[in-house]
Amino acid sequence: MSKAPKITQLTADGECEARVVRQVRGGPTLVEGPVRIVEDDGAETVSDRFVVAVCRCHRSALYPLCDTSHRALRTPKAAARTDT
Ligand code: FES
Repeated sequence: MSKAPKITQLTADGECEARVVRQVRGGPTLVEGPVRIVEDDGAETVSDRFVVAVCRCHRSALYPLCDTSHRALRTPKAAARTDT
């Protein structure tokens, strides 16, 4: 029988210690910084930003960081729904 993973850690104050990671639909993954990204070839990228956008589309000139190139992948209809 497998043991379910513990998914939340609360401090004595009842605050959650878990780092917040947000998936943006059709866009990057937003991670609370600072972060150190280690790729499979060992290359490292460090960012001390408050929130770091990690590219998921692999089209960024700044890969592994998002440079908003993913926006060119959206259909005009999808872009109209999400742009305000
Ligand atoms: S997710 Fe933004 S450029 Fe790839």
